[in-house]
Amino acid sequence: MKSRYRVIQYATGGVGKHAIAGIAEHPRLQLAGLLVHSKDKVGRDAGALAGIAPLGVQATDRVEDVLALGADCVSYMALWPDVELICRFLEAGLNVVTTSGLLYPKFFGAELVERLEAACRRGGTSVHGTGINPGFSGEVLPLTMSMLSRRIEQITVREFADFRTYNSPELNHAMLGFGRDPADVRAHKHPNFDLMMRFFHQSIHLVADGLGVALERIEQTEEYGLTPVGATMESGPVPPGTIGGIKTRFAGVVAGRPMIVIELTWVAAYDLGAGWPAAAGEHTHWSVTIEGQPSLRCSFEQALSFEQGHATAGHTAPAMICTAMHAVNAIPYVCEAEPGIRTFLDLPLIAAKGAFR
Ligand SMILES: NC(=O)c1ccc[n+]([C@@H]2O[C@H](COP(=O)([O-])OP(=O)(O)OC[C@H]3O[C@@H](n4cnc5c(N)ncnc54)[C@H](OP(=O)(O)O)[C@@H]3O)[C@@H](O)[C@H]2O)c1
Repeated sequence: MKSRYRVIQYATGGVGKHAIAGIAEHPRLQLAGLLVHSKDKVGRDAGALAGIAPLGVQATDRVEDVLALGADCVSYMALWPDVELICRFLEAGLNVVTTSGLLYPKFFGAELVERLEAACRRGGTSVHGTGINPGFSGEVLPLTMSMLSRRIEQITVREFADFRTYNSPELNHAMLGFGRDPADVRAHKHPNFDLMMRFFHQSIHLVADGLGVALERIEQTEEYGLTPVGATMESGPVPPGTIGGIKTRFAGVVAGRPMIVIELTWVAAYDLGAGWPAAAGEHTHWSVTIEGQPSLRCSFEQALSFEQGHATAGHTAPAMICTAMHAVNAIPYVCEAEPGIRTFLDLPLIAAKGAFR
């Protein structure tokens, strides 16, 4: 165990920039390097890219540069999980925490698991996937609540997110379809659409394994809401008559019944009609309901400040902070874990040690 771990940050998007700030403030972490995907960020200071004071760490797009730093961990927050690159880090002795989709690698099959495990063995390292959803609401919270249960009939996880201030053009428009015609989105499915949706399938598999039940299949449905008036997202326009809301439902079937369900409602507009949120003041929130003996419900919200009375309704920054910090706070635990894939079923409770100030 080291008193301090040296961390390479990979990517400075909506999540990554909050990770830089989180690493800089964390008493047991030190930002050792910054790897970027975008050429125009090369040479820029990590602090400047994160919107905080300069940190004296310059961004590079050369993997060799960051491998040479002899750091302990990579905080991986690029748009997609590049398994080749993740294995390169792991083999080089760098642990990896990521919000980019490797929450429960077992879901993808034995080949990926063995590839990651082999890289971990060679490097004596661990890999851990995390986030807020997936990564908290969809599995850590229901599993934690289940410790109060005698009998469970159904678990339902609901997320409502206002996407207007989520500034990811690739995810919002190219992949999910905000601001586009549903027929166009269906006809030109983004090459990574299924990969992204499988982020949530992994959560259901993790919960099923955590509760020791055999999952038969996952049924997935999507529904689009069209905005008559149109809307504006930070990532781009949503013209009238195009997709302003997306509902996705994942139902994990156990013993012939939908027992582990995740429902996502993502909106950029509030004129989508019946069955859609109508109030622009709604803020991003989650709930986990366990129907059983006893029935339990836990709801949680996020805000820049509750004391300011939700003045920041619709703002995604707190969710981005949560996503980044779940990964950042996990770094000491992952560095200290036995080598291999380390999921929430393997790691101890992750707490924000040192955050009270
Ligand atoms: N689990 C959760 O709760 C949760 C929540 C939100 C997001 N996420 C995931 O976290 C990751 C980061 O999300 P984000 O909101 O930060 O996304 P983002 O703002 O769109 O950008 C992420 C970064 O990815 C890099 N990038 C851009 N194009 C790329 C490409 N073609 N290949 C690889 N990297 C590319 C860029 O890095 P540079 O800055 O280095 O140029 C960009 O800043 C994504 O995988 C997202 O799905 C998870």
